[in-house]
Amino acid sequence: MNLTMPTAISGFSKLSKSKKIEWLLDTYFSNKESARNLVQQYWNSDAKLQKLHDEFIENTITNYYLPLGVAPNFSINNKLYTIPMAIEESSVVAAASKAAKFWLDRGGFKAEVISTEKIGQVHFTYTGNFEALQSFFEIVKPKLIEDTRAITKNMERRGGGILDIELKNKTQDLEHYYQLHATFETLDAMGANFINSCLEQFAKTFKAEAQAQLENDVNIVMSILSNYVPNCLVRAEVSCPITDLKSKDITNPSLFGEKFKQAVNIAEIEPYRAVTHNKGIMNGIDAVVLATGNDFRAVEAGVHAYASKDGKYKSLTHCSIEDDTFKFWIEIPLALGTVGGLTSLHPLVKFALEMLEKPSAKDLMQIVAVAGLAQNFAAVKSLTTTGIQEGHMKMHLMNILNQFEATSEEKEKIVEHFKTNVVTHSAVVEAIENIREI
Ligand code: MEV
Repeated sequence: MNLTMPTAISGFSKLSKSKKIEWLLDTYFSNKESARNLVQQYWNSDAKLQKLHDEFIENTITNYYLPLGVAPNFSINNKLYTIPMAIEESSVVAAASKAAKFWLDRGGFKAEVISTEKIGQVHFTYTGNFEALQSFFEIVKPKLIEDTRAITKNMERRGGGILDIELKNKTQDLEHYYQLHATFETLDAMGANFINSCLEQFAKTFKAEAQAQLENDVNIVMSILSNYVPNCLVRAEVSCPITDLKSKDITNPSLFGEKFKQAVNIAEIEPYRAVTHNKGIMNGIDAVVLATGNDFRAVEAGVHAYASKDGKYKSLTHCSIEDDTFKFWIEIPLALGTVGGLTSLHPLVKFALEMLEKPSAKDLMQIVAVAGLAQNFAAVKSLTTTGIQEGHMKMHLMNILNQFEATSEEKEKIVEHFKTNVVTHSAVVEAIENIREI
């Protein structure tokens, strides 16, 4: 069958799911039947559950699977957790589990939430006199808060709400540019909808009151929360006497400790290394953030901005060796929620949160920070000892075998072979060929 040249389509979102799929198949796929089968193979057999997923976004055609794995044996503030992780990278869950076990025998992870403040801004322009704007702001501020009562009353009843609103003069950076810079406490909610609704109401009231009271107009540009949350901070740490680092694969703990610290120091001063170092941290963080139904893009954006807060991109983890004590810690901003959003909608998110014993947002901040620290510990430990490829390729072995559609019997033989041999792509291919030639 000939494919037509793709042309723009109007009203796509209004088509039924099957019509959308038909259009896609007609436009892009030479083997329509196999493409249709694939799309349908990933539909859930429970129509109600499938509909729930269809309605998360627009134009859903099927589901996209990621493995949901678990990393047990995490001791956090003396409580044991099994951490859910949604991720495609083969070695991540294994590395997290290994780090959890390593630190379980050495006092576990300690974590604390330092602060929980969220931020949102109304961005506007104004061409008049600053003093007049400032006096107007002081007069209108109580009304800004008053007009959001309908939005804030439930949050306030639970102990959260708007913390403060400030007027910021940004005209030195951009002509005529000002902000209403607001801070919020959103408790167990990530708070994006709450904050954005408050901000849009501030903007309405501010504009209307300015028209009545100010000589010059206020022009609202936009109202939106900030994903940079440097005052929504969590810290996680591990520490032990340096001699206690001794283990099956650490025969010389002081040498290991020094080399590990050196690797972290490098990531503190060298951005090329810091980005990869922090990527390894995000392997752990994103996996838990995703499994618990939180917005990993928001977390990523905020965390990387924090890594650059001193004007240079740096490591998010730090290491010290003092008085023969090895200490390794992370401090990161995390705006997370355990109520609202997907948390009460996605069945696997509910499952993940139940596995974590229904954490508060503060508990989840600690768990996520620990997952990031553990992941980084595992990565830097491998990098400074065996190298990363040994463990990585062992975990990747199954992916290579699946690419070659190895049977269970072939897999068993090859896995056995690579227990004592170095895994490389070509060595695996050779092993498959050898077996198949027999
Ligand atoms: C791979 O996903 C992550 C690492 O590169 C992290 C690191 O280098 O620290 C192993």
